[in-house]
Amino acid sequence: MQGWARTLYCGEVRATHAGQVVTLNGWVDRRRDLGGLIFVHLRDRQGIAQVVFNPERFAAAHERAKTMRPEFVVAVRGEVCCRPPGTENRDLPTGEMEVVAQEAVILNEAKTPVFPIGDETDVAEDIRLTYRYLDLRRAPLQRNLRLRHRFYQVTRRYLDGQGFLEVETPVLTRSTPEGARDYLVPSRVNPGEFFALPQSPQLFKQLLMISGFDRYFQVVKCFRDEDLRADRQPEFTQIDIEMSFVDCEAVLATMEGLIVEIFREIKGIQLPQPFPRLTYDEAIRRFGLDAPDTRFDLELQDVGDLFTGTAFRAFAQPLESGGRAMALNAKGCGGYSRSQLDQLEEFAKGFGAKGLAWFKVGPDGIQSPIAKFLSADTLQRFRERMGGEERDLLLLCVDRPRVAADAMGRLRLRFGQELKLIAPEALAITWVTDFPLLEWDEKEGRWSAMHHPFTSPMDEDIPLFDTDPGKIRAKAYDLVLNGAEVGGGSIRIHRREVQSKMFQALGIGPEEARARFGFLLDALEYGTPPHGGIAFGLDRLVMILTGAQSIRDVIAFPKTQRAQDLMTAAPSSVDPAQLRELHIKLDLT
Ligand code: AMO
Repeated sequence: MQGWARTLYCGEVRATHAGQVVTLNGWVDRRRDLGGLIFVHLRDRQGIAQVVFNPERFAAAHERAKTMRPEFVVAVRGEVCCRPPGTENRDLPTGEMEVVAQEAVILNEAKTPVFPIGDETDVAEDIRLTYRYLDLRRAPLQRNLRLRHRFYQVTRRYLDGQGFLEVETPVLTRSTPEGARDYLVPSRVNPGEFFALPQSPQLFKQLLMISGFDRYFQVVKCFRDEDLRADRQPEFTQIDIEMSFVDCEAVLATMEGLIVEIFREIKGIQLPQPFPRLTYDEAIRRFGLDAPDTRFDLELQDVGDLFTGTAFRAFAQPLESGGRAMALNAKGCGGYSRSQLDQLEEFAKGFGAKGLAWFKVGPDGIQSPIAKFLSADTLQRFRERMGGEERDLLLLCVDRPRVAADAMGRLRLRFGQELKLIAPEALAITWVTDFPLLEWDEKEGRWSAMHHPFTSPMDEDIPLFDTDPGKIRAKAYDLVLNGAEVGGGSIRIHRREVQSKMFQALGIGPEEARARFGFLLDALEYGTPPHGGIAFGLDRLVMILTGAQSIRDVIAFPKTQRAQDLMTAAPSSVDPAQLRELHIKLDLT
């Protein structure tokens, strides 16, 4: 590289550099040989500059340019000039200028890339991921990772300014229950024993509060072996935060400050404060989901009172046994065909619903296959409650509460997309608070923690442990942005006896509690301050900030939906000798 060090990034060539001799380093994006002049688009991380090779003025450089191919790595020295009038390229920020090459060197050749390095691509994602280093050369991914870089910087600056200390916690550790399966790492020196990779640094950050650090944060990798979706990865990054001597209000206020700063610095958007809030119950009642997309209305209605006691058993029976009737008005969809309606029902069934009732509002009243089972008065009151006008489609699901809410909440999202109710630039942020502490796990037949087992119940609800655990509300909160849960946290249990009650409610007996969390139980007895915190899903936030459709587009080297890294071919089988050292025998039967 002697004598060829860059003096300017390709993407930064501007009119202000006119007349300067600059040295550019980069990749050949494309080359056009016009017989005489050769034009090369040279690309680096900042963008593209046009370089002109003139055979008459700089013959040696022109000879070099003849051998250049896409993705060759080159260095060019030349004068920045204005392009001749009429040849400017309005699509490039550098498009008014070009660099007239005086000298050039090919630093390395390249095979023809497996796919073109363009902004748009229709190449299968598996191929992109296999050749991720090429995929990452594409401008949209470069932009995403640059934004991600700024996200780290803004976050660190804000939290440092607020007195938070960045502390690293172990990656080889014990299981940290966050509701997923663990990734396990066998120990060579402790035969038959395993580390678990952290699902979150939850317990370590609580221990740091017990140690008196007062305010902690970490940009940290978390590992969860769970079913993957468009916004989930098996290893993902959290902005993990904990504070001492606080209540919910103090945590929410400080965290709003962080989110406001991120949007202001990165997007130039001033988010109004305080952020809106919904309680969990309200979110479920109005939107069906605990991470509601509040960018559009189309709210659900709880219409159980209208159908309780009706002679129609398919409605009356579930309502009598504690079920819920949730309805929505799909405005203007009264003309849906039978097959469209069947599709809606199939969709609802995909979320566990037994069925989906539909009512078309027509000129002669309500048309529905089940209208004959309901009284005219019930139908009329239903229509009024739903604000049903001619050509509307009313949809109703009567089922177990969770199922009815979830199925209708998902249908609401589907209509939000289908009816184009979401403005492209809309941003809707909300806190969801007052979560239940526990949820009933049907499969296991026991209570499980809705957030995690270290979340504090509301003080006034503690007696309910002995009477009605399902009614206990937690000091827990989620941050929801455009219908995505981008953060979750809580005030923690800081008194040993409450932690024991919680373990007991979860069916974790004293012995198991000691074996799994003895260190925490002990620590709680050595002067634990009231404390609480939150963790933000950094990848999800960056996804929303960049407008990326997939979480994989904001992570440099992501995993596929099958939790594989196609580029390095991980996971992979290992040498039998390595297994022996780890005291592992594979049983493939
Ligand atoms: P929680 O489990 O809610 O809380 O996680 C916090 C946030 O992390 C993000 N997230 C994920 N992002 C990508 N892929 C995943 N598989 C994934 N799982 C979670 C979400 C989520 O809101 N220890 C607690 C925090 C606390 O109580 O302080 C915790 O981990 O955006």
